[in-house]
Amino acid sequence: MSATNLVLIGFMGCGKSSVGKLVAKDSSYYFLDTDSMIESAEGQSIEKIFKTHGEAYFRQCEKEMVIWLKSNVSGAIISTGGGMLAHCDSLNEVGKIIYLKVPFDVIISRMNDEELGKRPLFNDKEKARKMYEDRDLKYTQKADLIIDANTSLAELVLKLSHEKTSL
Ligand code: S3P
Repeated sequence: MSATNLVLIGFMGCGKSSVGKLVAKDSSYYFLDTDSMIESAEGQSIEKIFKTHGEAYFRQCEKEMVIWLKSNVSGAIISTGGGMLAHCDSLNEVGKIIYLKVPFDVIISRMNDEELGKRPLFNDKEKARKMYEDRDLKYTQKADLIIDANTSLAELVLKLSHEKTSL
């Protein structure tokens, strides 16, 4: 059932949700965002989940979400949290993996305090940079398609709309 999903991966702030929503709007896909789904299921923001239950609990929520997506969802563009691929081995079974790649320094320059505040793993920027390097390798190894997402949102929408047809 899940082969028809497009799964957007990439580091925090690379634009997965913004572009996913817009591309889905003009296509036959519908849009899902795993962070929002976890927030709804838990009745708490990601920031609060990290604070009250810790990261390990959040990763468990992500693992359960991947299991659920595999058997219940098809025809969706799915925006994932930046750590989902690194923490959930079977994300490839949910659909075709598309890595939206943006250099770390560009990501930092795009984020305001509110955006940073929503993301507990950005508290320490040097740790986040190291995490980016580790994740970039993993994302690259697992991706079916890598898109250079260091562009305007409008350009990225065009690229994703076009390149998804090659999968
Ligand atoms: C995380 C990324 C966040 C969110 C959580 C953990 C990560 O999602 O899932 O804060 O480990 O990279 P975004 O990639 O949408 O910011």
